[in-house]
Amino acid sequence: MIRLTNITKEYGEHRALDDLNLHIKVGEFVFLVGSSGAGKSTLMRLIYREELPTDGEILVGGIDVTKIKYSQVPQLRKCMGMVFQDFKLLTNQSAYDNVAYVIRALGMSTKEIDMRVKGALKVVGLLHKIDAKPSELSGGEQQRIGIARAIVNGPPLLIADEPTGNLDPQTSLEIMEILEQINLRGTTIVVSTHDQAIVDRFKKRVVTLESGKVIRDVYSGTYE
Ligand SMILES: Nc1ncnc2c1ncn2[C@@H]1O[C@H](COP(=O)(O)OP(=O)(O)OP(=O)(O)O)[C@@H](O)[C@H]1O
Ligand SMILES: [Mg+2]
Repeated sequence: MIRLTNITKEYGEHRALDDLNLHIKVGEFVFLVGSSGAGKSTLMRLIYREELPTDGEILVGGIDVTKIKYSQVPQLRKCMGMVFQDFKLLTNQSAYDNVAYVIRALGMSTKEIDMRVKGALKVVGLLHKIDAKPSELSGGEQQRIGIARAIVNGPPLLIADEPTGNLDPQTSLEIMEILEQINLRGTTIVVSTHDQAIVDRFKKRVVTLESGKVIRDVYSGTYE
């Protein structure tokens, strides 16, 4: 699903990723861990082509994302959902519209959009909050909307950068259980986190970064 080969990313003099290699197979659930500044967010931004590497190759679903034209980025993003620590919801729009927003641009019929949005809201257990605005929702509920938005198009890949960074332990657990369910339905998932309790509990593949390199990569792993 994702293959990073000899990836280096430099910001001026600073090397955020240093000749990094990583292969993530279809259907995997991977926790990306490591201290602040280790390069987790940088790695994720490269995967969804928010930024380009200084050097190296990034294959996502067989496509080298470093080679595609900027105009092809929306096409690439159709194949992946993104979830962010700060949710990035449209504040004056309802839950429904936040989730529908992405697929309205794709030229689907209103009926198809309606079916998909309700389906995604059902996966995250928030059908009953369909008309609520983000300000009327808890942090955990807002993140569920963020997840519904990310999966509404049925992408094969979901990338989540510290999705529970702003949530309490119980809510974090619920969010991670939703991601696990989505993974069980076949979606490949990469989640960066500092949450040791979560990582230890879920026993997934754990990839640890340090100074822009993979220093540990274990299956059914723990935080350290
Ligand atoms: N746009 C940028 N310009 C300059 N330096 C950057 C930029 N983005 C990241 N960096 C640097 O690259 C390194 C890796 O940052 P990154 O955000 O990937 O770390 P992280 O592992 O996600 O950390 P955290 O756990 O705090 O989110 C850091 O030293 C950071 O200061
Ligand atoms: Mg980060």
